[in-house]
Amino acid sequence: MARKRKNWVVPAGMQPTEFDLRILSIQEKGYIVPTRQLVKTPEQIEGIRRAGEINTAILDMLEEKVREGMTTGEIDRLVAAFTERHGAVCAPLNYEGFPKHCCTSINEVVCHGIPSDEEELWDGDILNVDVTTIKDGYYADASRMFCIGHVEPKVKRLVDCARECLEIGMNAAQPWHFVGEIGKAIEKHARKDGFSVVRDLAGHGTGTQFHEDPEVDHYDTHEKGMLLVPGMVFTIEPMINMGTYEVFIDEEDGWTVVTEDEKPSAQWEHTFVMTDNGLEILTH
Ligand code: MF3
Ligand code: CO
Ligand code: CO
Repeated sequence: MARKRKNWVVPAGMQPTEFDLRILSIQEKGYIVPTRQLVKTPEQIEGIRRAGEINTAILDMLEEKVREGMTTGEIDRLVAAFTERHGAVCAPLNYEGFPKHCCTSINEVVCHGIPSDEEELWDGDILNVDVTTIKDGYYADASRMFCIGHVEPKVKRLVDCARECLEIGMNAAQPWHFVGEIGKAIEKHARKDGFSVVRDLAGHGTGTQFHEDPEVDHYDTHEKGMLLVPGMVFTIEPMINMGTYEVFIDEEDGWTVVTEDEKPSAQWEHTFVMTDNGLEILTH
């Protein structure tokens, strides 16, 4: 039998605090607890908050600019220029070889769409723009949906349901409870509308790297997953599909994630910090 991971360690010579003892006692019972690195200091949280302010300003700027006829390549240039003017860096560029400054995902594209000058926004499209900003070494990650012109009511419902799923997931995450509550609550809500929840991609810890632990699944895994304690910073970013939850990756570019049945998908994302009273949004 595999030995249980001992994630939480009190450094030699340090007196365990009440906080340490509370985590250690949960770890002793066999639950997965965070490592010390995943619990951010107040200084780190302030840094992530500043990255979040720029990230939010970028998405607000896009709300003013995104319109029918524009290309996703233009959106990418707007994100790049705005980020640079604010003394920040676009995390996606060159991340594991990603070629652009943000992700733009239209209709049946679930996520990781690559901006292109060849790709125009049409009436009735739904678009996700996912922006991640690095400021002074700290990361904030968020995405929003943009409805172009007249979107079909059923598709609009998908977009709204995905936003509700993010809010419901946020409210399900409580300190000293487990990450698994998030996906359980989200899947229940998505199913009410007959929609499905993507399983192959998850939310994630963030803040001092782009992607950290824990993995934040958006569906019901029937597992508790990692303990959530105050100071942890992570995203929730449910991808909700009109049809099947199955997805595939475009072989040509190695990035674009598409629904298996080519029906539409919608996603909203925020970066949060866990507090004593639940999640606080850092990308508002
Ligand atoms: N921003 C995405 C997320 O929410 C990750 C994009 S990775 C990239 O985790 F390389 F495609 F940018
Ligand atoms: Co993310
Ligand atoms: Co993102």
